[in-house]
Amino acid sequence: MPPMNDNDFPPLTTEQFREFRDYIHDKSGIFMDDYKTESLRTAVNTLMRQRDILDYDVYFRLLTHEIHGDDEFKRLLDLVTVNETCFFRNPGQFDALRQVVLPDILRAKEEIGDRTLRIWSAGCSTGEEPYSLAMTLLETLPKPEEWRIDILATDVSTHVLSEAQKGCYRKRALRETPAYYVRKYFKKMDDESFCIDRGVREMVSFSYHNLVTERYPALVLGGWDLIFCRNVTIYFQLESVRKVMNDFYMGLRDGGYLFIGHAESLYKINDEFIPMHLGSAYVYKKDTKALINDLGEAKAGICYVDFAAAKSVRPQAASRPAERARFRREEDKTGLYAMAYEHFIKEDFGLAAREAAKLTRIDPDNVDAHVLLANIYVNQGRADRAMKEVSVVLDLQPMSTKGHYLLGLIREKQGQLDEAVREFKRVLYIDRSFALAHVNLANIYRTRHMATDAVKEYNSAIAGLAQNPRGEWADFAGGFLEDVLIEICKRNLAQLA
Ligand SMILES: C[S@@+](CC[C@H](N)C(=O)[O-])C[C@H]1O[C@@H](n2cnc3c(N)ncnc32)[C@H](O)[C@@H]1O
Repeated sequence: MPPMNDNDFPPLTTEQFREFRDYIHDKSGIFMDDYKTESLRTAVNTLMRQRDILDYDVYFRLLTHEIHGDDEFKRLLDLVTVNETCFFRNPGQFDALRQVVLPDILRAKEEIGDRTLRIWSAGCSTGEEPYSLAMTLLETLPKPEEWRIDILATDVSTHVLSEAQKGCYRKRALRETPAYYVRKYFKKMDDESFCIDRGVREMVSFSYHNLVTERYPALVLGGWDLIFCRNVTIYFQLESVRKVMNDFYMGLRDGGYLFIGHAESLYKINDEFIPMHLGSAYVYKKDTKALINDLGEAKAGICYVDFAAAKSVRPQAASRPAERARFRREEDKTGLYAMAYEHFIKEDFGLAAREAAKLTRIDPDNVDAHVLLANIYVNQGRADRAMKEVSVVLDLQPMSTKGHYLLGLIREKQGQLDEAVREFKRVLYIDRSFALAHVNLANIYRTRHMATDAVKEYNSAIAGLAQNPRGEWADFAGGFLEDVLIEICKRNLAQLA
C-alpha cells in the first residue's frame, strides 16, 4: 500500500532532521530551527508520498542524488519556503521610494543622460513586490515611455514563479493596495480573482535564482539602480546574509539603493551602505563618495530625511554637508528597536535583551520596548524579569493585549492555569482577533481534559488565524506562520475527536 498520510511515516529522528536541515541550509541559505521539525517532516512526507518512499534515508539519497537531486530539491524548496507577501507590502517603503529614492535616482540619471532603470526584486515570491514596483514607476516617472525599464524578479521556488507569471491574485493580496491602483491596474475576473494589467505584467521578467549558491554574473545581475530583497534573508544564518548583502553592494551602481524588510537590518552585516531613515522606512544607499569624504560619520550614523523636508530639500542632499547635521547616532530609538527586534527574530535573545533594555533606559515609557523585553525574557524562561516588564507595560497601557497575553504566558509557564485562562480571556475580550490566545486556551483545556471547551477554542483559533493571518499575535508565535498553527490546531482537534 502506498503511504496515504503523515501517520504512515515514522517521526524524524534528531539526526535525520539535522541531515535534511543542513542540506537545505547549504543549498539555499534557509536555516530551519529545531522547532520546525514538524513542518519539515510534513514537507518531506508529502514528497515521499508522491514517490512511494517510506524511509527517510532512502528519500535523502534521492534528494542528494547527483542527477535527480536538483529537481527534487526544488520541489522540497517549494514546500519549505515562506512565501507570504502582498502588493505594496510595507507602504512606508513605497512612500520613501516615490518621494525620495526615485527622484534621487532620476536626477542622477538625467545628469548623465542615462534613460535606463534596472531594478531587481530578489526573493519576489508570487510577484506582488515586482508588480508593485512597476506600478510605482508608472505613477512616478513623468514620462515612463521615455525610459527603458528592466525589472528582474527572482526566486528560488519554481512554484511561486509560475504563479507570479500568471499575474492573477485573490483579493487578500490587495489588502495594502490603494483603491486607485486597484481600479487602474487590475481587472476583476468572474472567479473573483484580480488579474494585473498586461502592460504592468510585461514590465517584469521572472527567473529562477538562488541568492546563496549562485553567482551573480555582473553582466546580467549588475549595475542595479534599486534592489528590493525584503523578508528573504530573515530565514538565513548570519554568514549567508553577509554574503548576499555584500553581493548586493557589489551589484548596485554607485548611488543605487537597497530595500530590506522592516525586521531586517545591516547592523554588523555590512557597514558600507549608508543607512537612511525616510519617514517610517529604512533604506540603504551605496554612495562611495560619501563614504570616502566622511568615513567615520557616515558609517556610524543614520541619515534622516522626513518627507516634509524632502519636498523642499533635494533628497540627494542626504549625503551633502548641510544634511550631515541630520545624521544621528545609531542609538536612536527606532534603530535600537529594529536591532533588538532583529536579534529577537533570530532568537539571539541575549543581544536582543541588551538592545531592548538600552532602549527602555533612554525611553522608559516606550511600551513596545517593554513588550519586546518581556517577550525575550519569557522566551529565556526568566519569569521574574518578564513579570517586571509586563507590570510596566500594564501600568503604561492597562488595556494592552500584548501585556495581558504575556502575563497569561508567564502564568501558564508557572503552572497557574486559572490565572492564565483569565488573562487569555481578557486578551480576547479586548481584541477578538488575537487568535493565538484561543490556541493557548485550547491547550490549557486539553491538558485539563475539558475536551468540549478545547474543541471550541481550537475551532475559534482556526477561524481567527485564517481571517487575520498577520495579527498582533504574530510576535508571540515563535516564528510559526498561520498555516502551520492552523495545521497544529487541526491535528489537536483530530486527536480530541
Ligand atoms: C516571505 S517571501 C518575501 C516576498 C517579498 N520579497 C515580500 O517581502 O513581500 C520570501 C521569498 O524568498 C524566497 N527565498 C528564500 N530563500 C531564497 C534564496 N536562497 N534565493 C532566492 N530566493 C529565496 C522564498 O522562496 C520566498 O518566496
